[in-house]
Amino acid sequence: MVGDSELEQAVAILRAGGLVAFPTETVYGLGADASNAAAVRKIFEVKGRPPTHPVIVHLADAVQAANWAREVPEGARRLAGKFWPGPLTIILKRAESVSDVVTGGQDTIALRVPAHPVAQQLLARFGGGIAAPSANRHGRVSATTADHVRREFGAAVGCVLDGGEARIGIESAIVDLSGGAPVLLRPGWITVAEIERTLGVRLAAPDAGAPRAPGTLAAHYAPRTPLTVVEGDLLVELAMTLVRQGRKVAALALGEARPLLAGVTWAGAPRDAAGYAHALYASLRRLDDAGCDTILVERPPRAPEWAAINDRLARAAAGTSAPEAT
Ligand code: TXA
Ligand code: MG
Repeated sequence: MVGDSELEQAVAILRAGGLVAFPTETVYGLGADASNAAAVRKIFEVKGRPPTHPVIVHLADAVQAANWAREVPEGARRLAGKFWPGPLTIILKRAESVSDVVTGGQDTIALRVPAHPVAQQLLARFGGGIAAPSANRHGRVSATTADHVRREFGAAVGCVLDGGEARIGIESAIVDLSGGAPVLLRPGWITVAEIERTLGVRLAAPDAGAPRAPGTLAAHYAPRTPLTVVEGDLLVELAMTLVRQGRKVAALALGEARPLLAGVTWAGAPRDAAGYAHALYASLRRLDDAGCDTILVERPPRAPEWAAINDRLARAAAGTSAPEAT
């Protein structure tokens, strides 16, 4: 794992305005000192992220939320009490002192207390907030291992803390408590029902006309290879049709990989939602690297614990163009 001297070095880099990639329980983050606008700007440069996309500020504990938000409403206290440290991001009205670079010029701030022990140690030693989007190039698949991060950024990110495979594997749920009714901006591993039970009110769906979280726009989390989600009973047939048309096909099937079909690179995905989420981005990266013309993904179940997975697959498909199956 990560030793004392490595953590000290990472803290020194953050204090000097540099970037540090670090593990969280959801996905790896690409961090900078959130109180240093020039440092946060570097994240946008390295990721190729448009400046209007705000970043989440990671904190060591919920007490620090008061330094970044101008008010912490009762609902935020409840969610923080129940789910922090953990895979939940809460949007609040921002404090005066927060830089526009962090918030993308919005009047709100995204806050999260991550649970990964390396993230916790880094934050505790650093003392301040660490602004960090997912450690991937803009619009691409998030990184769930240190190796993914290194391959994504190469020499552009010198310090990558290796905390092993991210346990959850998909990004945090985002709840907006900055306005009237609480809004779910991005589904995550924590289900809507759990959040609603804790808040005691129903969550509203995001207002389609005014997307507050740019990263939740349709095209996101995409591999380079065109990706299509396919009903299970059509998967083998479509794969074979495409192969017959001369296409190289990669396929992510539920359960064990399918029987050998020449021209198809198969990967198997766990049948339980936790296992599926944990493995999803690594599988997509592997299939993306296989040099195929298309990735077919067998459609997972529609049950609530699969909601965040289905959301990410839909965005991955929207971020690429569908195969012209004829
Ligand atoms: O699990 C996660 O949340 C990971 C780890 C590293 O913490 N982080 C992550 O960050 O997924 P990122 O930047 O890839 O996605 C954060 C999303 C983006 O869609 C961003 O637009 C949105 O949060 N966001 C950030 N600040 C916001 C704000 N003030 N209002 C609305 N949306 C905001
Ligand atoms: Mg991201």
